[in-house]
Amino acid sequence: MVKSLYIHIPFCRKICPYCAFVRQLYCQKKVDKYLILIEKIIESKYKNNKFKTIYIGGGTPNCLTIKQLVKLLDCLANKLLPKYEFTIECNPEFVTRQQVEIFKKYKINRVSLGIQTLNKKIVKSIGRLHKRQDITRTIKLFKKFKISNLSCDLIYGFKQQSIATIKKDLDFLIKNKIKHISCYCLEIKPKTIFAQQNYKLDENKIEKQLKFIIQYLKQKKFMRYEVSNWCKTTKNQSHHNVLIWQTNEWAAIGWGAHGFENNVCYRYGGDILKWKLIKKTLTRKELYQQVLIMGLRLSKGLNLQNKLVNESYNFFKKELDSSSLFIKNKNTIKCCNINLLNCLLEKII
Ligand SMILES: C[S@@+](CC[C@H](N)C(=O)[O-])C[C@H]1O[C@@H](n2cnc3c(N)ncnc32)[C@H](O)[C@@H]1O
Ligand code: SF4
Repeated sequence: MVKSLYIHIPFCRKICPYCAFVRQLYCQKKVDKYLILIEKIIESKYKNNKFKTIYIGGGTPNCLTIKQLVKLLDCLANKLLPKYEFTIECNPEFVTRQQVEIFKKYKINRVSLGIQTLNKKIVKSIGRLHKRQDITRTIKLFKKFKISNLSCDLIYGFKQQSIATIKKDLDFLIKNKIKHISCYCLEIKPKTIFAQQNYKLDENKIEKQLKFIIQYLKQKKFMRYEVSNWCKTTKNQSHHNVLIWQTNEWAAIGWGAHGFENNVCYRYGGDILKWKLIKKTLTRKELYQQVLIMGLRLSKGLNLQNKLVNESYNFFKKELDSSSLFIKNKNTIKCCNINLLNCLLEKII
């Protein structure tokens, strides 16, 4: 039975110019109707399921009203296994004491904060609304309510960013004892405001910034356990994501959400209030590609004792073994330099 559940809340108070996620502006009536759709699926498709990990992502889940958050969390109240990880994504500027109380009551034990950068000028230029004080206040509030498994997202590659501004951002998080940091390289996807403005990425600068992040976080005793993710100890990893990368199975609910269960890849397309379930059964080759594309993102790679991993490796044995980036030990396969993962994956795609 599937062990991980992702729920997509595609609403935001403001649309960021770089964002290509499935999301739209918050509208109270729409959210109310949207939550009914989620509830219906939980009650029908996952009536008897309990999950090891649940992840509520967005959009901005915490732009919902308290009443709406309670409605959403109520549907998930008895859906957790005894040892669980329950994450919600939050934009720090909207976090209130009442929200944290509700999260605590409904057993949320991990929060992923979208920070991106703390530099005032850059924050303004990317259309974000938070101030440094919002982040400090939010971190304190979560810790006060003993939700101390906090993760922070940063983005590097914005025009005005430099190694100095990135170092300040990292120092701020480290000083605040954040134990999980995701650093994403800025992507300019079609149809975003930045793409329309012909925003150009400086590949050279970006490469140096990544190099700095890797070296600096290593120096600060963070482990890079995945391409864009660092943690202090394995305890602080995103168990939800690790489980997905390792097992290749997860349930998903919500407009634009992707899931993968029983070899079937599915996505909720259609209209925000009239979802259309689009399913695709993967061929063996596609399945094995997916296993490797996802699993080799992990620094420690994949375990060959897992039947699906073993089959995937054997299917692409010739292509993988011929790459100098690929390492096979007795029980594991991995990419020896995850910065160059795409060069390895090219061999199997
Ligand atoms: C689902 S998103 C949004 C979470 C939250 N609403 C926020 O914006 O803070 C999760 C993360 O993806 C990253 N992200 C969003 N757009 C990106 C882009 N164009 N390039 C790289 N990372 C991006 C951000 O770090 C963001 O926190
Ligand atoms: S980056 Fe986050 S807040 Fe901004 S539009 Fe995308 S999902 Fe919404």
